Amino acid sequence: MYNKLYAAGSSKKSIDFSIFAHSFEKLIGIQYMITVNNLDVQFGKRILFQDVNMKFTPGNCYGIIGANGAGKSTFLRVISKQLDPTRGSVTLGPGERLSVLSQDHFAFDEHTVMDTVLMGHTTLWEVMSEKNALYEKPDFSDADGIRVSELEEKFAEMEGWNAESDAANLLSGLGIAEEYHYSMMKDLSGKQKVRILLARALFGQPDNLLLDEPTNDLDIVTLNVLEEYLRNFKGCVIVVSHDRYFMDKVVDHLLVFRGNADLKDFPGNYTQYRDWKEIQDQLEKEAEAARQPKQAPAPEKNNRPQNEQKKKLSFKERKEFEALEEEIPALEAEKAELETAMSSGTLSNDELMAKSERIAKVIEEIDEKTMRWLELSELA
Ligand SMILES: Nc1ncnc2c1ncn2[C@@H]1O[C@H](COP(=O)(O)OP(=O)(O)OP(=O)(O)O)[C@@H](O)[C@H]1O
Ligand SMILES: [Mg+2]
Repeated sequence: MYNKLYAAGSSKKSIDFSIFAHSFEKLIGIQYMITVNNLDVQFGKRILFQDVNMKFTPGNCYGIIGANGAGKSTFLRVISKQLDPTRGSVTLGPGERLSVLSQDHFAFDEHTVMDTVLMGHTTLWEVMSEKNALYEKPDFSDADGIRVSELEEKFAEMEGWNAESDAANLLSGLGIAEEYHYSMMKDLSGKQKVRILLARALFGQPDNLLLDEPTNDLDIVTLNVLEEYLRNFKGCVIVVSHDRYFMDKVVDHLLVFRGNADLKDFPGNYTQYRDWKEIQDQLEKEAEAARQPKQAPAPEKNNRPQNEQKKKLSFKERKEFEALEEEIPALEAEKAELETAMSSGTLSNDELMAKSERIAKVIEEIDEKTMRWLELSELA
């Protein structure tokens, strides 16, 4: 079973994820997707992506991992049209909405919490703003009347009358009490802002959701809400994260950005990728050993062309890699224990504080060590 699953992974640049659609529901939704065609992104001489072709289908959550600077955020920026690619195109299904989790905690300071969330649905927000401005005009003309009725129709189609109550439900579900719904964003704490930005991204049930390192500033309660939301999400999610624990819970497919325009797709989560990589490395080593004639002298070191030589782990790096293989699961186990203790409801305030400080450190360490593991695993 494992082999079958992993056999589907490939290092081709042209990837059709639709073959992994699990159910009829997903299959009939196949026409709605993010399609990336012949994508190149280049900054100066540095090529980040070359001729990337992918289809992202609904009902699936795609995780992106890779070393710092590999191009993960750039890829999301191209998909959300915040950045034009050097070549190629990105298309969404007809009429589809795409929502991005904003990382800028100050961008909405001059808006109310409610407006910040409503603005997440840009089309609805534009219709609402134009409609309200027309109603406020002192010299309301016949032409304005016609325009307003068009806008009212669009507003009704988008179920605009439920927008505020939907937004309020989302906010309350993410732990923002009603008393804050009409406060100014600048008057809220950083922790509350993160939750509101998440509500903004989820508002109006977008068809596609892009999240760049969403777990970085999230507290555990909000993180649980996000995980639950993503597991039930019917659309397409693309998420960049260094948090392997989170990825394992939500991701169905992994894209590994290996640097130098090398992308690898993998039909599984982070842990499965690691297991697969270990097996692959072992198989490669065995194949290499089998290729070596028994008594033959070791080949001269520099007798291959430079570009055929794969950089290998030094002795020190190998030791570090092996240590990480033990440290990461231990930290993950500690994180799980801390989470259980913190949600037990039996801790005093001081204990809760101490544990939440510790868990923040543990998460940070997991992130750092996982990234390092990933870097070294490419050389192992
Ligand atoms: N507009 C730009 N102009 C020039 N270079 C850029 C631009 N945007 C990104 N880069 C470079 O492209 C590379 C990829 O950046 P990107 O932010 O996509 O990496 P990342 O994989 O998200 O890294 P991290 O894990 O640190 O978030 C980096 O070397 C970055 O400096
Ligand atoms: Mg990034």
